[in-house]
Parts: sequence; C-alpha cells; structure tokens
Amino acid sequence: MGKPARELHIGIIGIGVVGSSVVEILQKNRELITARTGVEIIVKRGVVRDLNKARACTIPLTDNVDEVLYDESIDVVVELMGGRELPYQIAKTALAQGKAFVTANKAMLAYHRYELASMAKTPIGFEASVCGGIPIINALKVGLSANEILAIRGILNGTSNYILTKMAQDGWDFAQALQQAQNLGYAEANPSLDIDGYDAAHKLLILASIAYGIKAAPEEILVEGISEVAPEDIEFAKEFGYCIKLLGIAKKHGNEIELRVHPTMIDEEKLLADVDGVMNAVSVVGDCTGESVYYGAGAGGNPTASSVISDLIAIARSYHISQSLQPSAMLGFITEQQYSITPKEQIKSKYYMRILADDKHGVLEKITAILSKNAISISTFLQKPQKPAHTDSTPSQISSIGGLNQPECAKILLATHETSELAIQNAIKGLQALESVRQRPVIIRIEE
Ligand SMILES: NC(=O)c1ccc[n+]([C@@H]2O[C@H](COP(=O)([O-])OP(=O)(O)OC[C@H]3O[C@@H](n4cnc5c(N)ncnc54)[C@H](OP(=O)(O)O)[C@@H]3O)[C@@H](O)[C@H]2O)c1
Repeated sequence: MGKPARELHIGIIGIGVVGSSVVEILQKNRELITARTGVEIIVKRGVVRDLNKARACTIPLTDNVDEVLYDESIDVVVELMGGRELPYQIAKTALAQGKAFVTANKAMLAYHRYELASMAKTPIGFEASVCGGIPIINALKVGLSANEILAIRGILNGTSNYILTKMAQDGWDFAQALQQAQNLGYAEANPSLDIDGYDAAHKLLILASIAYGIKAAPEEILVEGISEVAPEDIEFAKEFGYCIKLLGIAKKHGNEIELRVHPTMIDEEKLLADVDGVMNAVSVVGDCTGESVYYGAGAGGNPTASSVISDLIAIARSYHISQSLQPSAMLGFITEQQYSITPKEQIKSKYYMRILADDKHGVLEKITAILSKNAISISTFLQKPQKPAHTDSTPSQISSIGGLNQPECAKILLATHETSELAIQNAIKGLQALESVRQRPVIIRIEE
C-alpha cells in the first residue's frame, strides 16, 4: 500500500461503550480505511471522566476536554460522552476552533441541531445518532435525496421494542419485560427516555430535519411511551391481525408534516411487524422509490462505532480531495423551513381504546353515547370480564354486560374508525368523568 497523502487527527471525548469500539475498529481496520480514503485516521487523544478506571484502550487519555478542543493538531472532535448541554458547549467550541465535529448524541441534536448547523463552517457528522449501525441518515441525505419523502415510520428504540416483543411472544406484563431488559443491560436503571418515547422522538426529529427541515424540539410533538401497554392490548391486537410497536412517524400532508411517537398497532403482515427484540428498522416512502425499509442493530458498541467511523471516512475523503475541512455540505438538514407541523389535535388516526368500567346495566350505553357525541364510530368491540381476585377464571370474549355472578368490573376493548386526536381526547375526558369508569381509558393508535 502506498503512503497516504495525509493524516486526519481526531480526539474522542468519551471512551465508553461506543468510544472504545471506535478506537478498536480504527486500529483493526486501519489499512482498509486508509486505502478507502487515502488519509490515515489517527486518534491523538481520548477524554474520560475517571482516569483511574481500568480499560483496555491504548490511546493517550486525559480527563481535560480542553486538551482535545484546543489542540491545534486535532482536526476532528468526536463526542461520545452523552448528556445534552455539556456536549452542546463542546460542539460549539470545536466548530469555533475550525474543527469538524462528529457525534452519536441524539439527545443533544434533538435540541441544538439547527444552532450547530447555523454556525458550522466545518463538517458535522451524526450518522450514529439514529439507529446505531443502520446508515439511515446517509440513506435519507444521499440515497433518497431525489425523492419527496411521503412518510417515515421507524422502530427507533431497541429497549422498547425488546419489551413489546417479550410481552407479545412470552406473555409477560410490562414490568416483567422491563426488569428483564434491565437485567440484560438493554435498559438503563432509569429507563424513562426509552420507555416514555423521548429517545425515539429525538431520532425522529433528526430524520425530520433531513426529510423536511423540521426545527421542532421533542416537547412540540406528540410523544407517548409504552408503559401503559397491557397484556390484554396485545391479545386484542393479535386477535385482529395487528402487533404493537413503538413507532416514530413522520407523514407529509400537503404543506404540513405530522410527527408523532407512540405505541402503535400495525398490520402483522407489514415488514416492521417482524422487527423483534432490540433490533431497529425504518420504513421510508419516497415519491419515486415507494417504500424502502432499513433494518439492523440500533445500538451496541461496534454497530454504533461503524456509523461514527463512516462520518470520519466521509470527512477524510473530502479532506483528501480538497486538503481542507469543507463547510458543512455533509450536514444534510434542510435549512429553509418549508413545512409546518400538523397541530397535535388535528392528527387523524384509527384508535384502539381500553376502558375499565363497572360491570352493570346501562354503563355501555353511557360509554357509547360519549363516543357518539364526539362523532367517534366503533369498528370493533370486545368485552372481557375483569378477572376477579382469588379465582382462576380466565378472561373470555362475551357479548353483553350484566347477568348473575358477574365480576364487579369489566374491560371494554374497542377500535374506532378514523377520527381526530381532538375528538378522542375529548371522549377520554368525558369517559373519565363517568362515575362508572374506573380509570383513565388507554388508547393505542392504529396505523394502516
Ligand atoms: N451505547 C450505545 O449503544 C449507543 C448507541 C447509539 C448512540 N449512543 C450515544 O453515544 C454516546 C455515548 O454512549 P456510550 O454508551 O458509549 O456511553 P458510556 O459507555 O457511558 O461512555 C461515556 C464516556 O464518556 C466519558 N464521560 C462522561 N462524562 C464525561 C465528562 N463530563 N468528561 C469527560 N468524559 C466524560 C465517560 O468517562 P468514564 O469512562 O471515565 O466514565 C465514558 O468514557 C451517547 O450520546 C449515546 O446516546 C450510544
């Protein structure tokens, strides 16, 4: 192999799960990466919090980020530490110092991506921030760039997908499945970002910036997590040919983009329905391509490091050609806002609803009256007597309320025809106000 024309010097802030894999892969695949880029990528220094921790990593380490940020010989700062505001400060400093910046940090980008984009005169790479090892950013930014993107639907969070898979396949309840995810290291001790849907929302917003130029923050879109999904919801889904997945959805309607993250009943025949365990997948519908689906490992050291290094390789290639760090042509965000976000209450969907109510005469009429007052029509209806305490009876499908020896409450499971979020939320308020309804009804949106 001939001598590479140049060297690209990088500093990595964070040598944890992803950072240490980046170092290892750059060493293991050094020759082939150099052959592909014509530039040798050299890790000058890594930054950690605790220098006393035992680690296999052989690169020089420091606990002082300034030794990377202000080192003039370093061309690219790679941020793999996690968090939100400190990484944002690091990104700004790196860009201000004329360095390229690469990150896997979706939480920081969900809030600060456009601020960084507006100041960047050097490349910013963030392939690893969405779906770990799946090159979905590049697919949207480059491969599909001739298309108008009509819809994106993604299983963007492996932890939630693992939990929902276990609930569906092994009949576990949410708490059991979460506990197992924690035991296996798939869920953090505080799992809220994953199970409440915000991690998926961060990623959805990054994708929506590329597809549509959406500048919103996570709080501005509809986000619901999976913690209320119960075994009877899964049973209902199975009975009617659906499975439940936490989906991030972006859909274009004229000049509006609908953005939402929530547990979703999807047709069990769809490709996304077969994505199990911690795997991720994204379906993109383009006006030229139709649907294309991208599947793979959404997390883990090596898959995520593969995406980090793909950004480094893209930077190295352009560096090799131009001998400089080119302005942020790599970024790929649409910077002119062309679309507005569909207001949450105007989003339309079919809904599944679970209502726990007194099992007595007249309750069903009151419930249907509230639905009909909100112009919601029912497509499917099931009623299951709530399993009474101290009996072995199993829930079964029955057709009416009332009768002798009935348990004292019943679960009413129904699916609606398409209606608006406003109508469904008003109906929930109305139902909750009924004395005979025991708790806030649970909804799951149905995506055709
Ligand atoms: N893990 C994945 O599968 C995955 C997938 C996609 C994206 N990501 C993203 O990648 C980033 C890194 O994740 P990770 O799982 O590799 O994290 P991690 O294993 O917790 O590693 C974090 C690293 O950053 C260092 N660090 C943390 N705070 C620091 C500070 N204030 N100053 C200096 N160093 C500091 C830690 O130092 P010590 O080693 O001394 O503790 C550690 O080396 C996150 O943004 C995450 O969201 C991760």
